[in-house]
Amino acid sequence: MKKATAISPANIAFIKYWGKKDKKLRLPMNSSVSMNLSNIFTKTTVEFLPNLTRDEIIFLGEEVMEKEKERVVKHLERIRKRARIKTKARVVTKNNFPKATGLASSAAGFAALTLAGTVAAGLKLSKKELSVLARLGSGSACRSIPDGFVEWKKGTSSATSCAYTLFPPDYWDIQDIVVIVGRKKKKVSSSEGHKLAPTSPFFKTRISSMEPKVKTIRRLIKKRRFTDFGELIERETINMHTIMMTSKPPIFYWSSKTLEIMKAIWEWRQKGMEVYFTIDAGPNLHLICQRKDEKRIMLRLKKITGIRKIVSNKPSNGAHLVDIHF
Ligand code: DP6
Repeated sequence: MKKATAISPANIAFIKYWGKKDKKLRLPMNSSVSMNLSNIFTKTTVEFLPNLTRDEIIFLGEEVMEKEKERVVKHLERIRKRARIKTKARVVTKNNFPKATGLASSAAGFAALTLAGTVAAGLKLSKKELSVLARLGSGSACRSIPDGFVEWKKGTSSATSCAYTLFPPDYWDIQDIVVIVGRKKKKVSSSEGHKLAPTSPFFKTRISSMEPKVKTIRRLIKKRRFTDFGELIERETINMHTIMMTSKPPIFYWSSKTLEIMKAIWEWRQKGMEVYFTIDAGPNLHLICQRKDEKRIMLRLKKITGIRKIVSNKPSNGAHLVDIHF
């Protein structure tokens, strides 16, 4: 067995995954659409070593909770089962951003672990099989396997719930400026949040609107209709956060800074600057704009106090192997 290393990007969902049909298999209630990010990623090396008595998990440059390591071990079990081996593994992983920025993502982590782990175990999986396997580690991770703009089809079974490329990264020159206003280490993890989603009185209505929304976003990306696209992703964010805020107990991921920046964006738009936001399960914002406007938006952001970090991303490829190991 060999040593294998993979790099995987994080991804931002334009149409989001919130609520599961099957918790264990991580089957989503709806399909979702995302874009891989060029400047937020995880690099992971996996090596199966016969002399180990237990898996060794090393996160470089950050402290992680025991629970997170257990989730990695569980994923290694899936890989071992598939490869019909019992050998324990040494896993070394590093996010290119420290956890404290709130940027380290489970999507990038599990996609990199899936690719490096299966190759190290001697498996040769197709992109589709890799996406299915990554999904079992973290739902959104299945979208970090294929390149560029991606759809995760909810499917009807574990084997059919996976992501594929809609368009390559260079299809559309849009930019995702991630604005960090607080650490994402949330009080309610997304895994917990998914469980609460059905307790919102608005959840059924949301779910019934999702497949048409996915169809629409596909068409808008295809035609590169930025204004309609931007308006839709913003509405989708508010829709998902309404589910969060009205579940029992309610979850509020936004901070006052999040709201301040949302309002600034609406003002900029009124004055002719085209930029839209999308927000996941945390206070940080993803500002989506056309590349020609990126610099001007960055300048405006610099004038807002209390922003901890800004990371600008192009659309990028998905998980891939590299030769330089940890
Ligand atoms: C709000 O993929 O983190 O970012 O499957 O339990 O690991 P698990 O959840 P996760 O949920 C992501 C939720 C989201 C929306 C999205 O990325 O689609």
